[in-house]
Amino acid sequence: MPDTLYRASLLHTPQNPFKGGSLEAISDAGIVVQSGKIVAVGDFSSLRTLYPNLESTDLRGGLLLPGLVDAHVHYPQVRVIGALGMTLLDWLELNTLPEEARLSDVSYARGVASAFVRALLMHGTTSAMVFGAHFAGAQAALFEEGAARGLRVVSGQVLSDRLLRPELHQTPTSALEDGRALIQRFHGVGRAQYAVMPRFSLSASEAMLEVCQQLMTETPTARFHTHINENVDEIATVRRLFPWARDYLETYERYDLIGSRSLLAHNLHASTSELERLSAAGSSVAHCPCSNAAIGSGFFGLGRHLQHNVRVALGTDIGGGTGYGVLKEALQAYSLQRLAPDGVTMNAAQMLYLSTLAGAEALGLEGTCGDFTVGKSFDAVWVKPRKGDPLEQVFQHADSLQRMLSAAFALAGSESIAQVWIEGDCVHSRETT
Ligand code: GUN
Ligand code: ZN
Repeated sequence: MPDTLYRASLLHTPQNPFKGGSLEAISDAGIVVQSGKIVAVGDFSSLRTLYPNLESTDLRGGLLLPGLVDAHVHYPQVRVIGALGMTLLDWLELNTLPEEARLSDVSYARGVASAFVRALLMHGTTSAMVFGAHFAGAQAALFEEGAARGLRVVSGQVLSDRLLRPELHQTPTSALEDGRALIQRFHGVGRAQYAVMPRFSLSASEAMLEVCQQLMTETPTARFHTHINENVDEIATVRRLFPWARDYLETYERYDLIGSRSLLAHNLHASTSELERLSAAGSSVAHCPCSNAAIGSGFFGLGRHLQHNVRVALGTDIGGGTGYGVLKEALQAYSLQRLAPDGVTMNAAQMLYLSTLAGAEALGLEGTCGDFTVGKSFDAVWVKPRKGDPLEQVFQHADSLQRMLSAAFALAGSESIAQVWIEGDCVHSRETT
C-alpha cells in the first residue's frame, strides 16, 4: 500500500482513562502511515510541511478512531442471533448447540465464516477474540477467511467432552492432536494467533483441562479463552462437577490456565477471592453487556473489577449478544452501569478505551494496535454518517470532538462506518461493499 498522510479528526486513549489517562483529540490531525505502520501523528499542517510529497487522504467530516476490538464473539452463532427470552443453559441446548453441530460440514462452516468476518469488518472491528468451532475443519475455515479478509483473529477450536450434544464432543486425545495441528498451521501466521478454548469447565472433564494445560505449555505464546461465572445454574453445576474446587476459577487454576495470557468471558457472579486471584494473575475479563441483558444473566460488577485492578474489555458475545457493533456494546455497558445499584458512570473516554486499547491488551496485541501511538499498526475506523442520517445532525452541530464521540456511541451503527483499515490495508469501504 502507498505511504499516506491521512487528514482527520482523531480520537484515541493511549493511557487508560480509568487510571488517570485522558482522551487525546486532535481536530485537524495528520497521521503518516508507511508500510502499514504509524510513523508520525500531529497537527496536519505541520506534518504537511514535514512530508511535502506524501499523498494525502482527506477523512474530514467524521471521526477517526482506533480499530475496534471485540474481546468475545462466537463465530458459529451467526445464524442464531436474537433468540430472546431464555436463560443460558436452555439457550445453549435449544437454540445454539444444534446450530454449532451443523459446522461439522466444512462447506456449511465456510458460509458461516464468510458472513461472520464480513459482519465484524463492516462494524469497524479490526481485532477479535473469536470463540471458535468444535470441529477442526470449521476452525480452519475461520482462520482462512480471516486471513483472506485481513482481520486480526485470535481463536481456537472449542474443546468439550461432556454435557453438550454428543456430536460436539471430542476425546482428549483428538483434542490434543487437532490443537497441535491447528497451532502448527495458523498460530503466528499473518495476523492470526491461537487461543486454547475449553467451552467452559461445565463441559470439560479434568482430562480435557489437562489437554488445555498441555497445549498452553507447549505453545508459550498461545492465549487462553473461556467462560466463567455467567449464570447461577451454570455455577451450581460446576460446583457439583468439581467438588474439590472452592469456586469456578479454581477449576481452571488447577490446570495452570489462569495467567496473563488468559481472557475470561462474563464473570458476573465473581467472589472477592476470585477477583483478587484474577488480578494477581494479570488475567482479563470480557464484559458482554448486551448478552448479559438478553440472556438475563445479571449485572456486571465493573466497579468491583476496577477496584481489584482486574483488566476489563468488551465482548459482543454474538449470538447471545444482540449485535456486532462494539460501539453499541460500549453504550450498553454504559447504560447498564447507570442502572446497576453499584454502577460506575462512564465517560466517553472510558468507553472508547474499553472499545479499543483495553481489548488489544486483553488479546495481547497492545504492542501492535489499540491506539494511534507511533510505531503501532494503522488499524483505524472512520466514523462518518451518511448524508441525512441522524448522527450527521449531531456531528455538524457539536461543539467538541468529545461530544461527537459520545453521539457516535449513541447513534453509530454499521451504516456509519465509512472505512476500516488494518495495518494500513483498507479492509472495508461502505461505498464499495
Ligand atoms: N457458555 C458456554 N457456551 C456459551 C455460549 O455459547 N455463549 C454464552 N454466552 N455462554 C456460554
Ligand atoms: Zn460466549
